[in-house]
Amino acid sequence: MTEIKVNPSRLRRKDEHIDLSLRQKPGLADFSDIHFVHNCLPEENLDRVTLETTLMGMTLRSPLFINAVTGGTARACRINAALAETARECGLPMALGSQMAALEDPRARATFEIVRRVNPGGLIWANLGAYATPEMARQAVRMVGASAVQIHLNVPQELVMGEGDCRFHGRLDRIRKVLEHIQVPVIVKEVGFGIAREQALLLMAAGVSAIDVGGRGGTNFVSIENRRAGAKISPCLLDWGIPTAISLIESLDATGGKIPVIAAGGMGSSLNIAKALALGAEAVGIAGLPVYLLLKRGRQALIREIRKIEHELRLIMLMTGAANLDALRRKPLVITGITAEWLERRGIDYGAYARRGSGGNDITGRMPPSR
Ligand SMILES: Cc1cc2nc3c(=O)[nH]c(=O)nc-3n(C[C@H](O)[C@H](O)[C@H](O)COP(=O)(O)O)c2cc1C
Repeated sequence: MTEIKVNPSRLRRKDEHIDLSLRQKPGLADFSDIHFVHNCLPEENLDRVTLETTLMGMTLRSPLFINAVTGGTARACRINAALAETARECGLPMALGSQMAALEDPRARATFEIVRRVNPGGLIWANLGAYATPEMARQAVRMVGASAVQIHLNVPQELVMGEGDCRFHGRLDRIRKVLEHIQVPVIVKEVGFGIAREQALLLMAAGVSAIDVGGRGGTNFVSIENRRAGAKISPCLLDWGIPTAISLIESLDATGGKIPVIAAGGMGSSLNIAKALALGAEAVGIAGLPVYLLLKRGRQALIREIRKIEHELRLIMLMTGAANLDALRRKPLVITGITAEWLERRGIDYGAYARRGSGGNDITGRMPPSR
C-alpha cells in the first residue's frame, strides 16, 4: 500500500480557504455573450416543465449539484454536515472536498464520513488531486460509499500556494492509472481556471467518464492563495484562466457528446445555469455560493436559494418553449462579443447554436465537432 505522509499545514489551509472565500460575494461567470431567443408561443405548461436528467447512469431530479468544498477540520465537519443536509433536502448530489487529509490522518475521516451519515441514501462523489494513486482513489470512494470520484486539476493554485506541489509531470498518466483500476465513474475537474479543447481531448482519450470545466469567473484560487502567501503575485496574474462559458463550449466541441461535460465556476444564477445547460452541459456544480450562503445567512437561506434557482430555471425553459433539458438543448442560442471572437479564432462553429431548432442542421442540440 502507498505510504502517505501527514502534512500538518493541510488542515489549516482548509479553514483559511473557507475564510478567504467568504471575504467577497461569490463571483458570477460572464455568460453575457450567450443569448436565448425568446419564444412567444410556447406549446408547454409550467407544471409540465421538468429538470430531471441523467448523468453517468445516475438519475437526478435536477442538474444542479454541490461541488467539492472541504473536509479535515472540526469546522469543515460542521460545514459538510450542513451541506449534506441541504443536499438531502434538495435531492442534489454532493462532492466532498479533497479527502487527502483523511488519507494522511485517519482521525480526519469522520469529517468526510459525516456526509454519508447525514444523507444515507444520497449521491456522494469522492475527491482527490491528480497526484492520486488507484489505491488512494479506492480508499476515498470506500470511505463514503461514493458513486463517482472527482480528480481535481489546480495548477495555478499549486504554483501560487506557498506550500504547493509544483511537480506536474506525469499527471495524465496517473489519471490513466486511476481510470484503469477504479470501478466508479471518474470526473476530472478544474477548480476555476477552465479546461481548453486540447486538454479536453486528452482527457477524453484517456477514458475519463466526465469533464467538469471549472472555469474562471467564480471562486478564484490564485487570489485566495495569493492572500495566504502574503500577496506575492502581481495583480496582472490574478485573472488567469479560461472563462467558464468559453471553456464549456471548447470542451463540448472537443467531446462532441461522447462524454458528459459539466459546467462549474461562477454558476450561481438561474440564467447562467440555464445558458450552460442550453449550450450542452449535462449538470452544473456550485461551490462558492453554497458556502457563502450557509455561513453568512444559514442553511434555510441556502435551501431557499437553491429552490429559487430551480424555479427560475423552469421559467426560463418555458420562455424558450422547452419542457425538459433535452428540448432546451435544441433551442437556438446566439453567441456574440468576445466569446464569439474567441471561438472563431479557435475554429469552433458557434453559429450552429444560433441555427438550432429552426430547421437548421443540428437536431441533437449538441455541438457537432468542428473538425
Ligand atoms: C472553500 C472552497 C474549497 C474548495 N476545495 C476544493 C477541494 O478540496 N477539491 C476540489 O476539487 N475543489 C475544491 N474547490 C473548488 C470547487 O469545487 C469549484 O471547482 C470552484 O470553486 C469553482 O466553483 P464556484 O465558482 O462555484 O466556487 C473549493 C472551493 C471552495 C470555495
